[in-house]
Amino acid sequence: MASFAVRIVNYMIRTPLAVTAAILAALSPTKKPASHPAPKASEPPAEVPARASAPVAPVAAKPEPVKEEAPAAEPQHAPVVKAPLPTTAAAPSQITYSQCHVDGPYVAMTFDDGPHGSQTPRLLKMLQQRNIKATFFVVGKCVAQYPELAKQIVAEGHEIANHSWDHPLLSKMAEGSVREQLQKTHDVIKQTTGVTPTLMRPPYGGFTVNQRSWANGTWGYKCILWDVDSLDWQHKTPAKTESIILSNTKAGSIVLVHDIHKTSIDAMEATLDGLAKKGFKFVTVSELIAMNKPGTPAKTKPAKTLAPSAGAAAATSIDELARPAAASIR
Ligand code: NI
Repeated sequence: MASFAVRIVNYMIRTPLAVTAAILAALSPTKKPASHPAPKASEPPAEVPARASAPVAPVAAKPEPVKEEAPAAEPQHAPVVKAPLPTTAAAPSQITYSQCHVDGPYVAMTFDDGPHGSQTPRLLKMLQQRNIKATFFVVGKCVAQYPELAKQIVAEGHEIANHSWDHPLLSKMAEGSVREQLQKTHDVIKQTTGVTPTLMRPPYGGFTVNQRSWANGTWGYKCILWDVDSLDWQHKTPAKTESIILSNTKAGSIVLVHDIHKTSIDAMEATLDGLAKKGFKFVTVSELIAMNKPGTPAKTKPAKTLAPSAGAAAATSIDELARPAAASIR
């Protein structure tokens, strides 16, 4: 009687598990499929409330625009989410730029959060020695504190742009406060240097889509993010700043550095020389945007422009590094 069962048990003991499992599965074909239909049959009542609550779904989907507005990592203080947001996706009336699509080996170095009493002058000297033009996203209160440096930035051919009055997260602020942050900075730049800024960069990259549109309508600002984040404020290691920038910069890149940290400026001579050696040419952000080819995929490779010493391998790695970054932006 029990001999059949005993045989099966004995067989199972000797047989490899996988085979046993397969046999068991074959022996109980009805059970598995049945286990699915069973809950399904009992589900309808449960599904009704689920469907009834379906209209909630669109409500839950509404926060999506907020996701687009999520701040990117840029700050020199708090740890933040990595990577910038929207890239050069929109075509005709593009407001936000993280990078540009250009034919030549052009890149824009951008320096944030200054002017700084000691580091900005060091940087300006390095730039002047190399005849490099950069873009300074200045904090209004620092312009008020160091007006001579703001003037020097402009006098030496660099672009100066709005980075708010005292570096708050604008995306979390009411319109009146945002207006004040940007207007005060707009005014102090204009009054100090005679230049009317046309670009802004939100602290932490945090600026909602609506805010971008509104700032563009109010001051004509383009919202400038970045595609190469040196993370200089975080690691404060010159060699890292240099290697991150050298390995990630490609034609059309907008490179983010902060000219308020000694370690950042310590890295700049080698970084600038390294980029130049790779064949890159430096322009301001506005110049880069003027060269932008809307709608063109980011296929501009620095390969053609690389110095012979850089080699094809470097070009490949640059490209590979650039793509996931661009993809994650969307
Ligand atoms: Ni900043």
